[in-house]
Amino acid sequence: MSETISFPCYFVTKEGDGTFRGAVAERTTTDLPAGDVLVRVAYSSLNYKDALSASGNPGVTRKFPHVPGIDAVGTVEASSSDAWKPGQPVIVTGHDLGQNTWGGLAGFIRVPAAWLVRLPANLLARDAMSYGTAGLTAAQCVEALLARGVSASQGGEVVVTGASGGVGSIAVGILARLGFNVAAVTGKPAAAELLTKLGAKTILSRKDVDDASGKPLLAQRFIGAVDTVGGNVLTTLVKSMQRQGVVAACGLVGGIDIPLTVYPFILRGVDLVGIDSVECPQEQRERIWSNLGGAWSLPLLQEITTEITLGDVPTHLARLLKGEAVGRVVVKPVK
Ligand SMILES: NC(=O)c1ccc[n+]([C@@H]2O[C@H](COP(=O)([O-])OP(=O)(O)OC[C@H]3O[C@@H](n4cnc5c(N)ncnc54)[C@H](OP(=O)(O)O)[C@@H]3O)[C@@H](O)[C@H]2O)c1
Repeated sequence: MSETISFPCYFVTKEGDGTFRGAVAERTTTDLPAGDVLVRVAYSSLNYKDALSASGNPGVTRKFPHVPGIDAVGTVEASSSDAWKPGQPVIVTGHDLGQNTWGGLAGFIRVPAAWLVRLPANLLARDAMSYGTAGLTAAQCVEALLARGVSASQGGEVVVTGASGGVGSIAVGILARLGFNVAAVTGKPAAAELLTKLGAKTILSRKDVDDASGKPLLAQRFIGAVDTVGGNVLTTLVKSMQRQGVVAACGLVGGIDIPLTVYPFILRGVDLVGIDSVECPQEQRERIWSNLGGAWSLPLLQEITTEITLGDVPTHLARLLKGEAVGRVVVKPVK
C-alpha cells in the first residue's frame, strides 16, 4: 500500500511478573494492524480510558504489547477505500482505537475506513484533540439533555460532576455557553476559579452530591445533570432531580453500582440516559465536531489544554488514574 515508515509511539508491554510498562519506542508502519486507511497522526489526547488501557485494565485492553490512545487527528497517508484520499484531514475517536487496536499515541495509525470522520473546516487539528473523546462525550450529554426538553429558559440548575476533568470541564463550558445555570461539582477547591471562568454559577464539593441517608428521594434541586462519576454520586443526582429532570450518565470514576429505587422514575418522571461515545453514530459525530468548531466552541479551550510529547505521557496517565487531572492534555506524537 505504501513504503515502510518508522515512527515513535508510546509502547506498553506486559512484563513476566504481570505488571505493565510503558515507554517511548520506535515502530514501523508494517507493525500496524491491517486496515483500509493509514493516517499520519498530528495530535492525540489523553482520556481516563487511556490510563486504564496503559495500566492493563482488561475491560479496556487485553492484547499486549499495545499502543494506547483512543483519539487521533491527522491526514490520510494512504487509503484502499474510495471514501478517503491521501492528504484529507480526519479525526478518529472511539470504536476500537487504542483499546485492542493500536492507538493514537503514535506517529501513525491504520484503521477501517468507517472509523474516520472529516475534520471540519472550522476546527484546527490541535483544537479537535483539545476536545477529543472528552469533548465528543460532553457534547453528546448536552444533546441528550436538550433532546429531552431541558432548556436554559427554565432557569433551574444543571449539575456537572467531575467538573475539573476532561468531560466535565467541557460540559461546564458548553452548558454555560448555551445559557444554562451550571452547578459544577469538584473535589479540587483550587479548580473553582477555572470552573467559574468556564461559566459555572455555583461550585459544589463532592460531598454535596454524595448522600449517605439512604432515602429513596431527596429534595428536588436540578433540572439536568451530566455525570462522569457514577456510583453513589449518580444515585444522589437521580434522587435530587426536579420533576421531568434528565440525567446523562457517562462515567464511572467513582464506581459502577447505583443503588436506586424506582421512585425517582415513577414519581418524578426522571429520565436517566446512558451516553456511549465509542459507537456514537457517524451523523451525530459529524454534527458535534462541526458544533465544537462553531456554535459550541469554548473560548477558554486553550486555557484548559496542556500540550505534551510522548515522553510526558506516563506522568499525565498517573494523574488521570488518581483523579488529579485538570482539563485536557493533547499529545504531539514525537519523542
Ligand atoms: N461513556 C463514554 O463514552 C465516555 C467517554 C469519555 C469518558 N467517559 C468516562 O467519563 C469519566 C471521565 O472521563 P475523563 O476523561 O473526563 O476523566 P478525567 O479527566 O480523569 O476526569 C474525571 C474527574 O472526575 C473526578 N473524580 C475522580 N475520581 C473521583 C472519585 N473517586 N469520586 C468523585 N469524583 C472523582 C475528578 O474531578 P473533580 O476533582 O473536579 O471532582 C476528575 O478530574 C471516566 O469514567 C471515563 O471513563 C465515558
